Amino acid sequence: MSQFLQQKIAPNKEFGNMASMSEKQPTRVLDQMSRPLRDLRISLTDRCNFRCTYCMPKEIFGANYQFLPRAETLRQDEIIRLITLFNHLGVHKIRLTGGEPLLRRDIIEIVQRISDLKLINDLAITTNGSLLPQYAAQLKNAGLNRLTVSLDALDPQIAESISGGKSLLPKTLQGVEAALEASIPIKLNCVIQKGVNESEIIPLVTFSREKQIPIRFIEYMDVGMTNQWNHKEVVPSSHIKKLIHDHFPLIPSENPLFGETATRFSYLDNNPGEIGFISSITQPFCSDCTRARISTKGELFTCLFASKGHDLKTLLRSGMSDQSLIEHFQNIWHHRKDRYSEQRSSTPSSQTKAEMSYLGG
Ligand code: GTP
Ligand code: 5AD
Ligand code: SF4
Ligand code: SF4
Repeated sequence: MSQFLQQKIAPNKEFGNMASMSEKQPTRVLDQMSRPLRDLRISLTDRCNFRCTYCMPKEIFGANYQFLPRAETLRQDEIIRLITLFNHLGVHKIRLTGGEPLLRRDIIEIVQRISDLKLINDLAITTNGSLLPQYAAQLKNAGLNRLTVSLDALDPQIAESISGGKSLLPKTLQGVEAALEASIPIKLNCVIQKGVNESEIIPLVTFSREKQIPIRFIEYMDVGMTNQWNHKEVVPSSHIKKLIHDHFPLIPSENPLFGETATRFSYLDNNPGEIGFISSITQPFCSDCTRARISTKGELFTCLFASKGHDLKTLLRSGMSDQSLIEHFQNIWHHRKDRYSEQRSSTPSSQTKAEMSYLGG
């Protein structure tokens, strides 16, 4: 089956080991645009060993930058409890992000514990791949289903300049190999910026075809406050698609899935690979956005571009009951109206937005 296909949403399983709730039926919730809650993306750390210019520019995230102190970061038990509670509202898909989630020392334990819950049928990690050589096999054994590796260039100099002077491309490529060896399905994510890495598009597609790894091109987004986003630096997906189509003719995939971010294509030749375009700027996909995010600090964000999240950590640490927490999450989702990408104008927004490294990509 295609690595692009999301697994079918299985019927809700029993509610963890919380005996008082295990008999209850799952409580589905729709927001103000009738969108269900299905995916939870959890930022495990706001730290990263890269300094990508579009995400954590080194001029701002320098030696004096104050990352969150450990006591403010969600603990393992809190993460597991949140997943169990959100599962009761229909979440079966979890993505662990950051920052760089593999920097979290307890990453293997976290994956193992989520997997042991037997509530989640799609557990994925988004990573820059540099730590995969040491972790891929353990992640597989712990029950990880999928990986998304960020790879914006194969040219070492371009890769180094995008990642803020880090020469970690060889590690990322070794990481991809390690994941393939461990039989973890991977996707590649590439952010293309005008004048920066357009020359890498065809080499990246060629690489993904050779390795038979699905690849997705993401339009550069105005996420956070620090990347000095400018509309002129966005390369529209239509341009990228045309360039690729001229080299490797594409055909639209026949089975678009509800809630997916990418528009997918396959190749007209015999190559079994797939290619996707995530076009938040030119073709927003808010109308079926089923994603909630939990920041490193434990705030629930109902949109990638929200100014503020809802503090869950204080509630978790206050002794609130599972049932009250579920009702609280349900209430937040029920009132959700977010559709930032559909409302975005071409001028940079003056609205305050959380950084993606902290909020979770
Ligand atoms: P799959 O489950 O593998 O389909 O992953 P996904 O579609 O959730 O994509 P992934 O986690 O690889 O996200 C790819 C990129 O798409 C992210 O890093 C973001 O740049 C962008 N993205 C993901 N979700 C959203 C969203 O809700 N809104 C916007 N505007 N962009 C998003
Ligand atoms: N625009 C588009 N994608 C971004 N990412 C991070 N910042 C941006 C941005 N400004 C993507 C990275 C990575 C994931 C964590 O988020 O490519 O794959
Ligand atoms: Fe780190 Fe990923 Fe952000 Fe790059 S995009 S700085 S690798 S979190
Ligand atoms: Fe969802 Fe907000 Fe992204 Fe729209 S902009 S797809 S509402 S996260």
